[in-house]
Parts: sequence; structure tokens; C-alpha cells
Amino acid sequence: MGATLAVEEHAGRVVVTLRRPEARNAINAAMIRELHDVCADLEERPRLLLITGAEGTFAAGADIGELRERGRDQALQGINSRLFDRIARLPLPTVAAVDGYALGGGAELAYACDVRLASPAAVFGNPEPGLGILAAAGACWRLRELVGASVAKQVLLAGRRLDADDAYRFGLVAEVVPAGELLKRAHALLDRMARSGPLALRLTKLVADAPGGHPVTDDLAQAILFESEDKRSRMDAFLAGERR
Ligand code: COA
Repeated sequence: MGATLAVEEHAGRVVVTLRRPEARNAINAAMIRELHDVCADLEERPRLLLITGAEGTFAAGADIGELRERGRDQALQGINSRLFDRIARLPLPTVAAVDGYALGGGAELAYACDVRLASPAAVFGNPEPGLGILAAAGACWRLRELVGASVAKQVLLAGRRLDADDAYRFGLVAEVVPAGELLKRAHALLDRMARSGPLALRLTKLVADAPGGHPVTDDLAQAILFESEDKRSRMDAFLAGERR
């Protein structure tokens, strides 16, 4: 357990709980460092990742006390954006289980994950302009990709907060489940992912995130998978009547 995260190793996955309840799990420099350590581990030994927050909050943003002291040079370092990009590029899928507030950088962290699940108390929002700054760690483009420009601009420009029903309706979250079942459902989703071939999952994520039309990348990724033993044994199993 780090100072700001609880990191648990489960079969085939890592579960990270953001844990700064006294600051509503606001993302400070220590949390950024600890999340980079998790990324380094997952890059070296790929596993699925589940991110959640302690005590009924996902994360109430970047730490405003720290943000207040940052200047131009820190902004150009992309302290949050680089971490969230690293999380988005992790080799295997990531799931965010969001209970309570996911605001500012907390929302951007959830947007950087591959799939989001929410409790009925989940609230997504990007109030950065109210603090005189912009949401510079992915909200200005990832949110648009996830929900479309119209809703994204309501969130970014008009301070609209998306509750769990909104988030489900707009496709931001896959499912809304009671808080007490949120982690169980997230694990069930990860179990489903874990039944796929790990290399197939990894290459699918890579190709799905590649920008624009990309027939060559897709064919190259498929060429690797077509040669894999995993593919042959999975197809043999199907043809033998086995269903996973
Ligand atoms: N950074 C630093 N501290 C934060 C924080 C943040 N992003 N969000 C909450 N906190 C701290 C509060 O300052 C407070 O500290 P205190 O107990 O020492 O006064 C503590 O967490 C609890 O917050 P509080 O506002 O009393 O809780 P609440 O349940 O009434 O409200 C929120 C929860 C999330 C709605 C509210 O804290 C909030 O609006 N936070 C800021 C959201 C934001 O603007 N994020 C974008 C940052 S870029």
C-alpha cells in the first residue's frame, strides 16, 4: 500500500484504489508518482487494471492546493496528461469503477480508461474553467470522443455535471449498478475480458486506439495473431464444440 493508493494483486489483474479520503481522493504529486509505478509494472508484466476510489468518491480532481502553485513550466510538463496518456496506452484493458464524484482530473482519469462502470451516485464533471484553467489532461478531446461534441461542450463550457443516468444515456458508462455491487460487476467484466486471448486483446486495444483509417496496422496485427498457438487452440476448441 502506497501513501495514496491501495494496490492489490488479483488473478490476472491489478486493483488500484485511490485513497486520499481527507481530500476526496484529489490527485496530488504523490498519487501521480504511485500511479506511474503501477503503469511501469503493468507495462513490464501486462495485466488488466481496475481503478476505483475509496469511501464513496472516485476523485475530486487534481489537488487544487498544488495546482494553485503551478506555473507555465509545470503546465508544459503535462503532469496529469502524461500519466493519463500512459494509462490509456497500457497494454491490456482498464476499467474505472466510479462511485461518487469524478471531477476535473478525476473525470479525466476515468475517461482515459477503456470502460467505465458507475454507481447511481456517480457524478462526472469538468469544473476547471470555474477555477480559471482548462481541463488539459484529456477532457477536451477524450470526452468528445466518448459522448460527442454537444454533450462534451455542455460539460466543458457550461459546467454541466453528468449524473449516472446521464452518463449511461450518453454511453460514457457501460452500466449503472448499486454501489455495493460495483466492484463485483467490474470483476465480472474483467473476467469476461480475461477469457479472451491476451495477445488478441492487447493487439485489439492497440489497433482500436490507432487514429484514422488503418488497414495496414490491422492486417499486421492479425498476421501476428494468425500465427499464434493461442488462436489455433481456441479455434480447435470451438470446432470441437467447446464454448467459452
Ligand atoms: N483538491 C484539493 N482538496 C480537495 C479537492 C481538490 N480537488 N476536492 C476536495 N478537497 C478537499 C476539501 O478542500 C476539503 O478539505 P478540508 O476538509 O480540509 O476542508 C475536503 O476535501 C472535503 O471536501 P468538501 O468540499 O468539504 O466535501 P464535499 O463532500 O462537501 O464536496 C466536492 C465534495 C467534490 C463536490 C467538493 O470537494 C469539490 O467541489 N471539490 C473540487 C472539485 C473541483 O473543482 N475539481 C477540479 C479540480 S481541477
